[in-house]
Amino acid sequence: MEKCIIVAISDNSAIGRDNALLWHISEDLKFFRRTTSGHPVIMGRKTFESIGRPLPKRTNIVVSRGSEAPEGTLLAGSLAEAFEKAAEQQSERCFVIGGGQIYAQALELADRLIVTHVHTVIENADTFFPEIDPQLWKEDSRSEQYIDEETGYSFEFVEYVR
Ligand SMILES: NC(=O)c1ccc[n+]([C@@H]2O[C@H](COP(=O)([O-])OP(=O)(O)OC[C@H]3O[C@@H](n4cnc5c(N)ncnc54)[C@H](OP(=O)(O)O)[C@@H]3O)[C@@H](O)[C@H]2O)c1
Repeated sequence: MEKCIIVAISDNSAIGRDNALLWHISEDLKFFRRTTSGHPVIMGRKTFESIGRPLPKRTNIVVSRGSEAPEGTLLAGSLAEAFEKAAEQQSERCFVIGGGQIYAQALELADRLIVTHVHTVIENADTFFPEIDPQLWKEDSRSEQYIDEETGYSFEFVEYVR
């Protein structure tokens, strides 16, 4: 099973603040839904709480040291256990969908990064994505640049493979 990370990152590597996303870009949310639907998704407990409900049409695997799985999810006590549970779903891909703690641990295990580069600098973020080392990650595809009308931010979809 291919282990993918999917994430939206600002130019200064910011991904979140106050357990929420930093922007609302509807084309990116649609891309996320289209890309992950039908596949298992793995997330940290804080990201699950930020979303507030299981994502439909996907097996939701929540990583936590706690003992209770939120309704409609599978609980994993570690990222390794989350990948094992994902593999049981017989899907060709699974997606790590955040947040900061989980991305930091998943980066060394992932095969593919699916990144929305959002071209803005966010000064007061509290959660960041680690550096994508160009020695380790080769660009596999890059979309055209789009402009989000609501925020004015330009953004593009880039995939990296190990
Ligand atoms: N820009 C994006 O694409 C994107 C995507 C997703 C999330 N985000 C943002 O990221 C932020 C949340 O990230 P975060 O770093 O605060 O939290 P997180 O990674 O979502 O969740 C952290 C929690 O995961 C559990 N955990 C972490 N490592 C573990 C391990 N090795 N074993 C077992 N459990 C483990 C712990 O849960 P327990 O405390 O229950 O033990 C920990 O508190 C929010 O701002 C969110 O909006 C951004």
